[in-house]
Amino acid sequence: MSSADPLADRAAPAVTPWWKSAVVYQVYPRSFQDSDGDGIGDLRGVIDRLDHLQRLGVDVIWLSPIYRSPQADNGYDISDYEDIDPVFGTMADFDELLDRAHARGIKILMDLVVNHSSDEHPWFVESRSSRDNPKRDWYWWRDARPGTIAGRPGSEPTNWESFFSGSTWEFDEQTGQYYLHLFDRKQPDLNWENPEVRQAVYAMMRRWLDRGVDGFRMDVINLISKHPDLPDGQVAEGHTYGDGFPFYGHGPRLHEFLQEMHREVFDGRSGLLTVGEMPGVTPEEAVLFTDPARRELDMVFQFEHVGLDHGEASKFVHREPDPGALAASFTRWQDALSDTGWNSLYLSNHDQPRTVSRFGDDREFWRESATALATILHLQRGTPYVYQGEELGMTNHPFASIDDVRDVESLNHYREQTDAGGVEGDLLVGIGRIGRDNARTPVQWDASPNAGFTTGEPWTAVNPNAALINAEAQYGVPGSVFEHYRSLIRLRHERSVVADGTFRRVPAGSDEVFAFERRLDDDVLLVVANLSSVSRVVQLDGGLEPWRDASLLLTNLPAKTVAAAEFAPWEARVYAL
Ligand code: NOJ
Repeated sequence: MSSADPLADRAAPAVTPWWKSAVVYQVYPRSFQDSDGDGIGDLRGVIDRLDHLQRLGVDVIWLSPIYRSPQADNGYDISDYEDIDPVFGTMADFDELLDRAHARGIKILMDLVVNHSSDEHPWFVESRSSRDNPKRDWYWWRDARPGTIAGRPGSEPTNWESFFSGSTWEFDEQTGQYYLHLFDRKQPDLNWENPEVRQAVYAMMRRWLDRGVDGFRMDVINLISKHPDLPDGQVAEGHTYGDGFPFYGHGPRLHEFLQEMHREVFDGRSGLLTVGEMPGVTPEEAVLFTDPARRELDMVFQFEHVGLDHGEASKFVHREPDPGALAASFTRWQDALSDTGWNSLYLSNHDQPRTVSRFGDDREFWRESATALATILHLQRGTPYVYQGEELGMTNHPFASIDDVRDVESLNHYREQTDAGGVEGDLLVGIGRIGRDNARTPVQWDASPNAGFTTGEPWTAVNPNAALINAEAQYGVPGSVFEHYRSLIRLRHERSVVADGTFRRVPAGSDEVFAFERRLDDDVLLVVANLSSVSRVVQLDGGLEPWRDASLLLTNLPAKTVAAAEFAPWEARVYAL
C-alpha cells in the first residue's frame, strides 16, 4: 500500500483524458432488449436500441458480462472469457455491435470479472481434478481447520462469511480440500499470487483490446490480493461468521498487481477507460488508485453512498439514513479527489435498487425527485454513469412472492434466513427494498405488452407501471426524466466547467439542500437542489440575490424568478454567472 512506489515518479499524461467529459451508460444485456423472443435480452437487442443511446447522448456503453457462463450470477460467473454466451448471441453479433457503436461515436467497455471464474471454467475443472494438477494453485485450496473433521460445519479453513450468505468455503469431496469463493459457491476465487494466473488474465485482456473494445469495468478488483495466511476475521455480535474483509480487501499486493496489469495490458495504448469496482474503498485509497502518475486505474466505483441505508446485520435490514447523508457523502468524495485522482459518479447499477425509489420519492414526487437526483449527480466533478432505465425514472418492483425473485444473492439470503426461522413476508420487505432484482426488471420501452422488451415470456417480471413509465412516453416531452438527462449530458459536453471545474459545497441552511459551486476560471455554475419532499427556503451565504443577474441554465420545475429563495419539493436549479 505504500505510496513510495518506484512507479510513482513517472510523469502523469499531459493531455486531459477524454473520459473527463464523457458519460457512461450501463447495459445489463439480459434485461435491455430481447431480439429473438426467448424472453432474455441479447446483443442484437442492444444493436436495435442504439438509437436510444445516441439520442440520450452517452459516450460509452459498459456492457455487463456477455461471456459464456452457466449464469449462476447472471454472467458474473464466467466459464469462457473469450466466447459469447449463446443466450446473448454470437461473436459475430458482438463484433457488429462494436462496429455499429463505434460508427456512432460510442465506445464499449467490457466487464472484466477476474477475482473469480465459474466453477465450470476449464481452469477450475482442471484445478479441482486432483491435488497435484498443474492448475491446482490457480485457485485457493486449503485443508480443513486443524483438529476438525473435513466437510463438517465449522471445519472450514477460515470463518469468513460470503457476500452471498454462508461460508466462503466449499468442501470438495473428491480431493478432500476446500476452495475459496467470496461470492457464490459457483464462483471460485482465482489465486492472483500465481503469476501464471495473472499472465493468462492479461493475455485475455489484450486480445479483447486487439478486437477493438475501449476498456474495462473491473468487477470487485480490490479483492484480488488476499493476505496469504488467510487469518480468521472478527465475529460481530449476532453473527455466525467472521468478517474476512480486512484480509481479502485491499490486500498487500493490490497496487503491485494493478501496476503490473497496467504495464502488461495498457501501456502503449490510448483512448481507453478503466474503472475498478471497489467495495469498501476509502477516499484516501481511491486517490492512490486513480492518481495518473501511479498508472493503476482511471477511476473507481466507491460504495459509501450506497451503504448509507444498510443496517448493521446486513444490507437486507434497513437503516434510515440521516437527512442530508447523501449530500454529505458526495461532498466528502468530491473534496477528497479534488486535486489528484478522479471520481466516478453513480446512483444505481445492476446491484442496487432503483434510484428514484431509494433516494427520491417515487410516490408523490416521482418526476421531480428523479430529475433532481440526476441534476446533483451529473453536475459534480467526475464521470457520471447512467444505469439502464434510470434515464426513464424506472422504479423498484413490487415483489409479492419469493417466486418472483431471481437473484442468487437474495435467494441465498432467503434460504439462510428461513432456515433460521424467518418468514417470507418479513424477508420480502428487505428483499423488495434493497434486492438486486429491482434493477433487473426489463427496460420499459413503450406501453405495449412486456413494455416492448420481448415478444416472449420475460425471464423476470416487467414492472406493472410500464404503461405509464416508458421511453416512448418521454421522448421529446419537455421536462420528462429522459429529456432532463439529455440536457444534463449535453451540458457536460458543451461546458468545460462541468467536466473540469472545481467543486465547492455552499452551505444552504438545511442539510437536505445540496448546493454547490463549480468554477473554471470565469465560468461559474451554482447548483441548488432541495433533496426532500417538503418546500424549503434556501439560505445561501449572501442569499440568492448575488445571482440576480445570473441565467438559469436548467431547472426541473417551471422557472421562478432567479432569486426566489423558496424551493418546492425536489426542485433543482442550475445557475450560470
Ligand atoms: C460485483 C458485481 O457487480 C455483482 O453483480 C456480482 O454479483 C459480484 N461482483 C460478483 O461477481
